[in-house]
Amino acid sequence: MTDTKKSIHGQWSSRFAFILAATGSAVGLGNIWKFPYITGENGGGAFVLVYLLCVLLIGIPIMMAETMLGRRSRQNPINTMVTLSEEAGADKNWHYLGWMGVIAGFLILSYYSVIAGWASAYVLKAFTGSFFGADATTIKGLFDNFMASPIQLTFWHSLFMLATMLVVVRGVNTGLEKAVRFLMPSLFVLLILMVAYAMTFDDYYDKGIKFLFTPDFSKLTANGVLTAMGHAFFTLSLGMGAIMIYGSYLPKDVSIAKTAILIAGTDTAVALLAGIAIFPIVFAAGLEPASGPGLIFQILPIAFGNMTGGWLFGILFFVMLVFAALSSSISLIEPAVAWLIENKDMSREQACIRSGLVTWLLGLGTIFSFNIWSGFKIFDRTIFQLMDYLTANLMLPIGGFCIAVFAGWIMKQQHTEQELDMSDALSYQVWRFLICYISPASVFVVFLHVVGVL
Ligand code: TRP
Repeated sequence: MTDTKKSIHGQWSSRFAFILAATGSAVGLGNIWKFPYITGENGGGAFVLVYLLCVLLIGIPIMMAETMLGRRSRQNPINTMVTLSEEAGADKNWHYLGWMGVIAGFLILSYYSVIAGWASAYVLKAFTGSFFGADATTIKGLFDNFMASPIQLTFWHSLFMLATMLVVVRGVNTGLEKAVRFLMPSLFVLLILMVAYAMTFDDYYDKGIKFLFTPDFSKLTANGVLTAMGHAFFTLSLGMGAIMIYGSYLPKDVSIAKTAILIAGTDTAVALLAGIAIFPIVFAAGLEPASGPGLIFQILPIAFGNMTGGWLFGILFFVMLVFAALSSSISLIEPAVAWLIENKDMSREQACIRSGLVTWLLGLGTIFSFNIWSGFKIFDRTIFQLMDYLTANLMLPIGGFCIAVFAGWIMKQQHTEQELDMSDALSYQVWRFLICYISPASVFVVFLHVVGVL
């Protein structure tokens, strides 16, 4: 391996460009849509605590490992696993890990795009003043009507998939950089504004904070722990090769450790802010925290409909949510696209059209699970719930487990040391301890706990 090795798809212009892209991938619907509703479903504080621990002990070390694998090989995740296992003299079967990642990316994007479609539709609803002065019942009615229409949902899903593929076709390192640079900080500011609004609900604000930050372990089930862990992977975009492929475009002289900590910190801050903004309003409006995937769409419009400047803030908020989703969705499909280009000799256009169509089609399953197929259940779950469980709770943690084992046990220590290039030996030792023992063991223990062995 030489220092001059580059990906055929190009390279980020700077460390900052990578940070933007990786943060763009991490911060998305996972933080603002998913984190609040799964926190609500799993009883609050204890769930949040487990999630935070998972980010710290599993997420950050694995994010470093994934970035490192990508940068070392400069290829798509499948080829990365082939090249690096050869380099380490290990079994060739490691490339199945790359495969699982590509498939997980498709499955996640299929439902991710549907939800991003909801957010896009809400830009229009905000614009036309649908939220104006509305109470909780009206807003819920609005959401329920929207869910009942497969045609509307398909329209917005199609629009979002089209936008995603238009960005990916231009190549991720030119496509979105400018938009993300401006929109991410704005989203942050707007979230803080929402928190300020939530504070005006005095007692309910306290109740919301208490719900989020006072752990009550009696409310946490084994599956709740799995969901919290799975979400740590999901929200940081780990376990399927997205960060790996972004790492493959990363210049050589960038510190992987510092970058990973910065990205994980920002991502966590956004999720917590979203939670702090949302739960006080949930309680003030007399809604259930466990309202499911519609939670933010039933809560935030109440705020926008009743606060000063709410019309404008509502539009801005949903626009930014769509952009946050867009900068995430491109990272879900990029591994597949890069693989089609590198291994199947396709042009970027062809690769985008094919993978986009497959994802779009899969997404229809999620759409119908909110209306015409809502009674159709496999393992007691609708198609959407099944997709979510399969990817976030199973495939990502399994992928992450394998990445940890590969980086910790299969790769030569000399290579990981060289690639991470950490300034002091102690930090490297800490990472090594986490990646060899703590991260894989935690994933394993949580799985055992869920199947009831522990
Ligand atoms: N992290 C993104 C979010 O929170 C979603 C996402 C983008 C993702 N790329 C990923 C999740 C790769 C898992 C794997 O919204």
